[in-house]
Amino acid sequence: MIDLSHVTLTFPDGESRITAVDDVSLRGENGVVTGITGPSGSGKSSLLAVAATLIRPDSGGVLIGDGPDAVDAAQLTRAEATELRRERIGIVFQQSNLLPALTAREQLRVMAHLGGEGRSARAGIDERTEELLDAVGLAAHADKRPHQLSGGQRQRVAIARGLVHDPEVLLVDEPTSALDQERGAEIMALIARLTHERRTATLLVTHDLVHRDALDSLVSVVDGRIEEAPAMAA
Ligand SMILES: Nc1ncnc2c1ncn2[C@@H]1O[C@H](COP(=O)(O)OP(=O)(O)O)[C@@H](O)[C@H]1O
Ligand SMILES: [Mg+2]
Repeated sequence: MIDLSHVTLTFPDGESRITAVDDVSLRGENGVVTGITGPSGSGKSSLLAVAATLIRPDSGGVLIGDGPDAVDAAQLTRAEATELRRERIGIVFQQSNLLPALTAREQLRVMAHLGGEGRSARAGIDERTEELLDAVGLAAHADKRPHQLSGGQRQRVAIARGLVHDPEVLLVDEPTSALDQERGAEIMALIARLTHERRTATLLVTHDLVHRDALDSLVSVVDGRIEEAPAMAA
């Protein structure tokens, strides 16, 4: 579960400040894909960056997890936030941000080594790597590097990488923007399936609603504020 409550985020803008996120409250439940839509510049990526603990908000709460394990990420130090992110949050950006020199398998394994856990944890990650490459349909492409993969395949690697440490929260920013509509639909369906199977609380930013079928719920952001949700029906 992720629960953003009254989150406000401003950036310096000359003499004054620009309000990118304006008193937003939004809850993402486990096993649910919550879509966030809205025009360019409305604050969607800023909101996701706050949820990802990459930016600390000016005010508001960012509760990650349920029950006694719940943590308010907005109150953590930078080091604590980094640790929380490594353990409990998966992030998939617009561009897949893969390392050019690494194979698909290595993109996933390197995450575990960055985490600095012990050998037994790493052995677990190696198993999870194979399982996830299979889950995203890339078992046969595990030894390929990014330039040998299509845009859709690269995005699959990024999704598998975002899930390799078994996060409770999955944050996805415009995953289909570099793909054609058919490939985009496949990626959205994949994210929906993995969210339901793995019970992640998934927040997914998308500026267009062609793929809204893959979303379990939808909110709209305009000028940094949550507006009434757009109609789910076509
Ligand atoms: N790092 C930053 N520094 C200053 N202004 C920013 C920064 N990131 C975003 N903004 C501003 O915040 C607003 C929201 O941007 P963003 O969250 O990227 O919107 P969206 O993802 O909906 O297109 C915009 O006015 C943008 O210019
Ligand atoms: Mg954006």
